[in-house]
Amino acid sequence: MKVTMVGTGYVGLVSGVCFADFGHEVVCVDKDPGKIDTLNAGGVPIYEPGLEALIAKNVQAGRLSFTTDLAAAIDGSDAVFIAVGTPSRRGDGYADLSFVYAAAEEIAGLIPTGDEAFTVVVTKSTVPVGTGDEVERIMAEHAPRGAFEVVSNPEFLREGAAIDDFKRPDRVVVGTKNAQAEAVMRELYRPLFLNETPIVFTERRTSELIKYAANAFLATKITFINEVADLCEAVGANVQEVARGIGLDKRIGGKFLHAGPGYGGSCFPKDTLALARTAEEANVALSIVSAVIDANDARKRRMANKIVAALGGDVHGLRICILGLAFKPNTDDMRDAPSLTIIPRLIDKGAEIVAYDPEAMNEARSHMPDITYATDVYSAIDGADALVIITEWNEFRALDMKRVKQLLNAPNVIDLRNIYRGERLRDLGFSYTNVGYPA
Ligand code: UGA
Repeated sequence: MKVTMVGTGYVGLVSGVCFADFGHEVVCVDKDPGKIDTLNAGGVPIYEPGLEALIAKNVQAGRLSFTTDLAAAIDGSDAVFIAVGTPSRRGDGYADLSFVYAAAEEIAGLIPTGDEAFTVVVTKSTVPVGTGDEVERIMAEHAPRGAFEVVSNPEFLREGAAIDDFKRPDRVVVGTKNAQAEAVMRELYRPLFLNETPIVFTERRTSELIKYAANAFLATKITFINEVADLCEAVGANVQEVARGIGLDKRIGGKFLHAGPGYGGSCFPKDTLALARTAEEANVALSIVSAVIDANDARKRRMANKIVAALGGDVHGLRICILGLAFKPNTDDMRDAPSLTIIPRLIDKGAEIVAYDPEAMNEARSHMPDITYATDVYSAIDGADALVIITEWNEFRALDMKRVKQLLNAPNVIDLRNIYRGERLRDLGFSYTNVGYPA
């Protein structure tokens, strides 16, 4: 099959590369010549483990290429994927679909006409219910003689584990009722079906909603355990054991029950807001989703107070070392990262911040130019009055705590990801605070 992937952001690039790795011929297209130049030079505009090597392998095999020329890419394509950004519209939280619609219009002008021609146009970006209908309308307006079908195929990959998630998904969701389009989609995902990955064929609107409902449910799970963590702290219980104790019930499941500083990233915050707006428009109360959004925002703000409280109520003049800035490990993504709420609040309260993150410091600089960025973990810790872990990168899990104690000005560790064992650190003489444990 020949595939055109429009948009080389996270979803587009990973999906394109993985389809190529399935054996299809894939052309990834982006309007940004800088991104395409980087990709053609063997670079990768985002940090994602394994991606660079997979790109190199498939480019070398002649299955994967990058271009700004949409017309050349579309020529002969069985499927054209729209994987452009759908950011939150400033101010109102609706998903901004202007990039999706612009792509649809351009594609419409380029798909072939004629008896044999049939192009499947697939929305892979996360798009609100009904977007496929509008894409279809735009396409019909601009390609009145084209034979095409608009299909929804949401993506469920996680940053940092994207390749594995794409190649070994729990399920694939395809929204179409058109048999010819269904056959193309089956062929595209054939290697997964050989592995017996379940495929949910459904209507387009249902498929679009599945994506939002999945993200909102996961965000709810995290927010639920975060609130239980607060209760654990107040009543003297242990949140990790509560999570294990409830997660072993298969109806609940153990994943996404790690208490922490609140969810961030490019998906949960944006998608929960967009879902809430869709519900408002439809006059349907999604009160749980609204509560999750508010609780998560409040939680991120409260984390700064938690740090201040752990340090005796006043951080004025204290030097605080922050380990981890990205919204989660294995990414350089800073979008809606808890660190972006916590750090400015600590600065407002008079603290001086020294931060370190293995990948996200360049990104972080554009949001927080005035804090100090250390070159490595131990120089970040050196001379600090407290060590705060915000993101659970692997390299922070196995710090030499004796050395840490010597380097710190005062032995305070605040671990917002619960990656250390309290007893051990307290035995070593640290004052240790984490999330959802009795102090
Ligand atoms: C999320 C979903 O997990 C993917 O399935 C989905 O495809 C993606 O959004 C998307 O819509 O594109 P992602 O945002 O990459 O993926 O990251 P997650 O691993 O889901 O983490 C999201 C946030 O939740 C992070 O801030 C993480 O620290 C937090 N989290 C996650 C917790 O606080 N506790 C947990 O138990 C799990």
